Amino acid sequence: MHHSWRFSVSLFFQLGIFLSCQIVSCLADASPSGLQWELSTLKAEAAHGEETLSLEFSFSNPSSGSIKITAIEAHCGCVQVAHPELPWIIEPGTAQSLPVDLNLRGKQGRFYQEIMVVVGSEQHSLAVDIMIEDPVHRPMSPQERAKNKQQAMKDSKAIFKGQCATCHVVPTQGKYGPSLYEAACGICHDSETRDPDVPDIKAKIKQADRSYWRAWITEGKKGSLMPGFSKKQGGPLSGSQISTLLHYLAAPAAK
Ligand code: HEC
Ligand code: HEC
Repeated sequence: MHHSWRFSVSLFFQLGIFLSCQIVSCLADASPSGLQWELSTLKAEAAHGEETLSLEFSFSNPSSGSIKITAIEAHCGCVQVAHPELPWIIEPGTAQSLPVDLNLRGKQGRFYQEIMVVVGSEQHSLAVDIMIEDPVHRPMSPQERAKNKQQAMKDSKAIFKGQCATCHVVPTQGKYGPSLYEAACGICHDSETRDPDVPDIKAKIKQADRSYWRAWITEGKKGSLMPGFSKKQGGPLSGSQISTLLHYLAAPAAK
């Protein structure tokens, strides 16, 4: 009887659990640990330039036995987990928290890191999922956008100057092809929140020919919000940058 019970345990659980059963008290290990996490993934947003972020995982032990956390591991030095000395015994019926400090310095976009918590032979995987604000696509107030548009209506080259250039020019520097398109053109044309005066040009990519693209990119259109981007027109793009845009955007030449 006893033998067949052990046999089925070894069938249904990993060998590791079975082996640890030989050494330590068996029942707690052979059943799921019972540790309950309020949220196993913590989501948050960080402002651009914010270098540290502190979050806490909340958890409890609703079971009637104590639970032993034997290891807590993060795979990045940018995640510091503050916990008491291990093993950490979670008494029955108690709630605890696991504080994590994140170092976001130099990080961009999505910051996703996992933290492993070992409870007996189980591994609980926790995660932090942080969106770091992009300074170019930060939220702008309607007033700020209206002011920008007004300035561009007076002079479409305004986007190449002063503060405007931090978003409309600096990100284009040293870029070529698709990533240049994204920084120089997509900022207006592919924005979901763009002004109705900015047309959707996706359908023309690889469809319209070189001369079409060349004319729009180098000259823009007088009296519109679309400036010419060539150096000759007072724009920021070099001839070789423009040639990589043409290669990316224009339909392959007919043979
Ligand atoms: C400041 C925002 C802005 C940026 C940046 C911008 N455009 Fe435009 N673009 C416009 C606007 C506004 C129009 C509409 C002009 C009009 O017809 O009045 C336009 C028109 C166009 C058109 C004509 C589309 C049509 O259907 O008539 C093309 C092609 C185009 N842009 C390509 C580009 C490319 C390529 C880049 C990058 C080198 C770029 N644009 C950068 C605002 C922008
Ligand atoms: C913080 C970055 C940033 C700065 C600074 C900035 N822009 Fe923009 N601009 C954008 C983004 C992003 C868009 C795309 C529209 C959107 O999603 O708000 C845009 C779009 C535009 C458009 C197209 C119309 C529209 O609103 O969709 C014009 C014109 C424009 N900007 C002009 C300017 C001018 C002129 C300045 C300086 C006075 C300026 N921008 C400063 C990020 C910026």
